[in-house]
Amino acid sequence: MVTAKVWVLKKHFEGFPKSSDFDLKHIELPNLKDGELLLESVFLSVDPYMRIVESKNPDFTVGVFVVARSGWRTHFISDGKDLRALPPNWPESLPRSLALGTIGMPGLTAYFGLLEVCKMKSGETVLVNAAAGAVGSVVGQLAKIWGCKVVGCAGSDDKVAYLKKIGFDEAFNYKTVASLDEALRKASPDGYDCFFDNVGGEFTTVAINQMKTYGRIALCGAISQYNDSVPQKGPYVQMPMIFKELQMEGFIVSRWNNRWEEGLNTMLKWVMEGKVKCHEQVTEGFENMPAAFIGMLKGENLGKAVIKV
Ligand SMILES: NC(=O)c1ccc[n+]([C@@H]2O[C@H](COP(=O)([O-])OP(=O)(O)OC[C@H]3O[C@@H](n4cnc5c(N)ncnc54)[C@H](OP(=O)(O)O)[C@@H]3O)[C@@H](O)[C@H]2O)c1
Repeated sequence: MVTAKVWVLKKHFEGFPKSSDFDLKHIELPNLKDGELLLESVFLSVDPYMRIVESKNPDFTVGVFVVARSGWRTHFISDGKDLRALPPNWPESLPRSLALGTIGMPGLTAYFGLLEVCKMKSGETVLVNAAAGAVGSVVGQLAKIWGCKVVGCAGSDDKVAYLKKIGFDEAFNYKTVASLDEALRKASPDGYDCFFDNVGGEFTTVAINQMKTYGRIALCGAISQYNDSVPQKGPYVQMPMIFKELQMEGFIVSRWNNRWEEGLNTMLKWVMEGKVKCHEQVTEGFENMPAAFIGMLKGENLGKAVIKV
């Protein structure tokens, strides 16, 4: 009998999440039935990556590593559906935790969002916010590979220094600039062809006015709005959308589930060639999961935040 440690949501968030909103439970798992397998977490994100420790499913052998959506837990019984194996050519030298970051869902969010939603072309100017995070840091590097000028912003000077190190043309700390409008104008006086938006809210309202005619905006996330108890209100987007003839499209990365392999193989290749750099914020210990999650919402992570169980 295996006992799983499981973080459960005790209470729905009221405003910003608190540690007391989570409860750590110990749950005894039943013996496996035919077709099932037992997984053990190795690294956790919101989209955990696990190792198979016992299997009664002929498609999965013990010891194999997979990515699974099983929640915040140390052990999990699966029927094998919805498990994603790591690419078979995964190099021994490469940390497997990257399957939760650059060579996983966040990396592919950047890849498909830029390629299919922003439809950016070489020579264009791309803006990305939350630029030092898991998605944003890949957006900037991919846009550089594809021949664009890249402007990014993040919430600390260390993050800004990191963005310059990984090739962003312009980067600034949105928390310390006197005026976001002026900082965006200074970084690209001619405006922006593409805007990869991870933040939403006021940032979007300001940035939209600096789009070039026919500009494209990919709505990836709205982290500045997730914990609002009262929905934000702001200037409405219609006027700049109409007069600049902009396109704005929201997307969820699972739209490209049928092209997952293409995305993973491209990211794996570029990481191995050194064209895309990865940074992970690794927190040790399953017990620290809520603290790491809250820290990520506060911007304490550089690159992908993961828990090493
Ligand atoms: N559409 C999809 O399929 C999809 C898939 C994955 C992720 N997402 C979204 O993409 C965004 C980035 O996700 P991620 O996993 O890469 O997270 P992340 O960027 O690694 O971490 C979140 C970052 O957001 C920034 N942030 C937090 N509150 C903010 C605020 N009020 N204003 C501006 N920035 C704020 C913080 O960085 P600073 O220090 O810079 O503030 C923090 O480090 C999120 O909105 C997420 O929901 C969407």
